[in-house]
Amino acid sequence: MSASVLPISRTAQVKKPLVQVLRGETVSPPPIWLMRQAGRYLPEYMEIRKSAGDFLSLCYTPDLAAEVTLQPVRRFGLDAAIIFSDILVIPDALGQDVRFAEGEGPLLDPVRTLSQVQQLSHKDLGEHLSPVYEALTRVANELPDKAALIGFSGAPWTVATYMVEGGSSRDFSIVKGWAFSDAHGFKYLIDVLVDAISDHLISQIQAGAEVLQIFDTWAGVLPEPEFIRWCIEPVREIVSRVRNSFPEAPIIGFPRGAGVGYRRYATETGVSAVSIDSSVPLEWAAQELQEICAVQGNLDPIMLLVGGDPMIEATREIMSALSEKPFVFNLGHGIQRTTPPEHVSTLVDTVRLF
Ligand code: CP3
Repeated sequence: MSASVLPISRTAQVKKPLVQVLRGETVSPPPIWLMRQAGRYLPEYMEIRKSAGDFLSLCYTPDLAAEVTLQPVRRFGLDAAIIFSDILVIPDALGQDVRFAEGEGPLLDPVRTLSQVQQLSHKDLGEHLSPVYEALTRVANELPDKAALIGFSGAPWTVATYMVEGGSSRDFSIVKGWAFSDAHGFKYLIDVLVDAISDHLISQIQAGAEVLQIFDTWAGVLPEPEFIRWCIEPVREIVSRVRNSFPEAPIIGFPRGAGVGYRRYATETGVSAVSIDSSVPLEWAAQELQEICAVQGNLDPIMLLVGGDPMIEATREIMSALSEKPFVFNLGHGIQRTTPPEHVSTLVDTVRLF
């Protein structure tokens, strides 16, 4: 595909702090948004969630998905909206059976053999995911001038863990067992996901997303050679395909738990920023990662849940270490569902007044 012209909304004159940072500028105060900023800790989300029925229906109803995307931006004045969707819309769109059982998390009919991989079909992907693109376009039209719109996807490895295990997992023994014992066969699944995820991300930019984030939540469970093979290499390929269509696309990678592997990930995938989890030492991130790309993170979500002085203190330490180079304030992982919304307001004030 040849390089395309950016949609009009993306050429707007207003400078968006998140986009500036991802282009390598230092912005003060840094932009702030929070992973899982839309969700069950917000009463206004629960209202809409009730009317939508199940979680996937909410994801696929554009006006409701757009509304819950905008809720935290309105309430807290955040610098970005992340489209309300899920990483598991990819297996759903490929034809795998995906359900969200109340209180149980996701349940999928597992894919564990080559012939099951061959039954997945890319054919209707764009049509199946069209409600996501419609929701993005709606949000793009309603977003405050300075807030950026983030599209996202799971990374191939993390999406594969759910597809193979059949849901969340404790030890990832089935998916790791397959990847370790039959790398050649497992690569078919990863390749199907690279195709689907690349197309999904490109379509999200076409619909109005200005920034992309790739969530590799389970990157930290792999030994180094497999981390390189199943996390770094597929994400590098996805970044290259997206940039083939949109050379300037700002992309944030989140290889959660990668430890010192973050450095190699930052160097080799070509992402504009790495989102660091709460275990990454701040000085190390400033010296080793901010030399390569922008850094996003990394307040522990439990600090946000606790609130008060411990949260304020931890926030200031992060700001001291990272805010003098390209930096986006965020959590190290998603917001906990029992977080009091007032804690988020205090956090935003702490970052802006630092
Ligand atoms: O960040 C946002 O506000 C955008 C929305 C978003 C959701 N999921 C909504 C959601 C994003 C970015 C995700 C990503 C996601 N989904 C990840 C990667 C990030 C991470 O948290 O590690 C993963 C691993 C998933 C898979 C997933 N979705 C699980 C395991 C669950 C069940 C656990 C839970 O928190 O309920 C979900 C459901 C889900 N995705 C909810 C939300 C708001 C809860 C659904 C509900 O309202 O009942």
